[in-house]
Amino acid sequence: MSTTAPPAEFAGGGEQAWIEVIQKMDEVYNDLLQYEVALEEKNAALEESHQFIESVLASMSDILIVCDRNGGIEEVNPSLCHFAGKSMEELAHTPVFDLFADEVERARARDLFARYAREGVHDCEFFLRAGDGSTVPVSMNCTPRVSQTGKLMGVVVTGRPVGELRKAYHALRQAHDDLKRTQSQLLHAEKMVSLGRLVAGVAHELNNPISFVLGNVLSLQRYAGRLGSYIDAVHAGELASLPELRRELRIDRILADMPHLIDGMIEGAERTRDIVDALKRFSAVDRAAPEEVDVNEVVERAVRWVSQSAAGKFAVDIDLPPGLRCRGSSGQLQQVAMNLVQNACDATAGQADAQLLVTGQVADGKLELRFLDNGPGIPEANLAQLFEPFFTTKPVGQGTGLGLSISYGIAERHGGHLRAANRPEGGAEFTLTLPVESC
Ligand SMILES: Nc1ncnc2c1ncn2[C@@H]1O[C@H](COP(=O)(O)OP(=O)(O)O)[C@@H](O)[C@H]1O
Ligand SMILES: [Mg+2]
Repeated sequence: MSTTAPPAEFAGGGEQAWIEVIQKMDEVYNDLLQYEVALEEKNAALEESHQFIESVLASMSDILIVCDRNGGIEEVNPSLCHFAGKSMEELAHTPVFDLFADEVERARARDLFARYAREGVHDCEFFLRAGDGSTVPVSMNCTPRVSQTGKLMGVVVTGRPVGELRKAYHALRQAHDDLKRTQSQLLHAEKMVSLGRLVAGVAHELNNPISFVLGNVLSLQRYAGRLGSYIDAVHAGELASLPELRRELRIDRILADMPHLIDGMIEGAERTRDIVDALKRFSAVDRAAPEEVDVNEVVERAVRWVSQSAAGKFAVDIDLPPGLRCRGSSGQLQQVAMNLVQNACDATAGQADAQLLVTGQVADGKLELRFLDNGPGIPEANLAQLFEPFFTTKPVGQGTGLGLSISYGIAERHGGHLRAANRPEGGAEFTLTLPVESC
């Protein structure tokens, strides 16, 4: 501001006062200038934060609605405009409840928002009406908006349309279920294939107890005839000839022999039952809860079944400490053991000295079973592919290529591991490890 000379009437005594007024005006003017600069700075900062908020709201894929206390829309983000197919101007001051799909949803939303306006609503699913007229499930959150004095000003509603997500989730679950079904079918198919190959072994094992039960029954049949003759003589009152008849019919030998015959029959019947049980367990589609598994029995049975059905000579030595126990599925572990024994049998087929040694030890909290054969071993290039499904070097009809991949999965599910290697002295070595805590 420019200053001019004081008017004539202020000359003299009034001049000082005039100067002071002018100085005051200068000060006020300077203050004003500073205020203006500060205001402009604040305005710029405000503009910047406004733009920042706008850009955040615009880039949000979730919908956002700011409502007043009565549920009137005050502000929305572009996602909501896009979802509802309306502009901000069209939506402003309309009731938020109009966005809901129907009367039932509106009533639910009113009730929930009224009840929980102070505490908020979290992840509640509502159906909203989209711009194209369809109803879309939206997972919504509602947070109260309060003034500085703590007065409820309204609510902020955010929501995420879950329709697409849900569709994708369902498709994924369907695919996963299909995969699981196919996998269990494959597992079953592999079992059936190996069972088919083992029919001779199983039949042989069943034949043994059945034939000695049959032998004992025939003996009992003969004994029954002799006992019948003796009882007839007793009833006919031929007392004088009884001691002679008793000797002749060897009644005392019959009486001494009968308990052994009966015990043998019981044992044979029990063995038959055990074999049938093992067969049932093995061929079952496994869903049973984990049970205690007798590992020695599993290995011995696998060896019996495979070696009895082997076409040529196949010598197996089992060198296991007694009483190896494990928790899990005996049917599945039987499948692993049989596949390892069968693979060794196949690998050594045609060798005059075909041999398999099964050893076992418990160390460092692990139960380790080793299957060592004297076959040709595994070519280095195949080692990496051995556990892949459908990898086989056997002719069509003899190998599915699933045995090792299924066995690997079973070992992992039991918390263990299956490894393959070549022995320095030749032949292959498979190591099945199972944790002792599950044993
Ligand atoms: N003891 C072994 N010695 C040599 N090769 C083996 C042995 N065990 C498995 N293999 C190789 O691993 C392949 C895959 O085995 P597997 O998964 O059991 O399927 P399959 O027995 O149906 O071929 C076999 O075809 C064979 O080439
Ligand atoms: Mg196999």
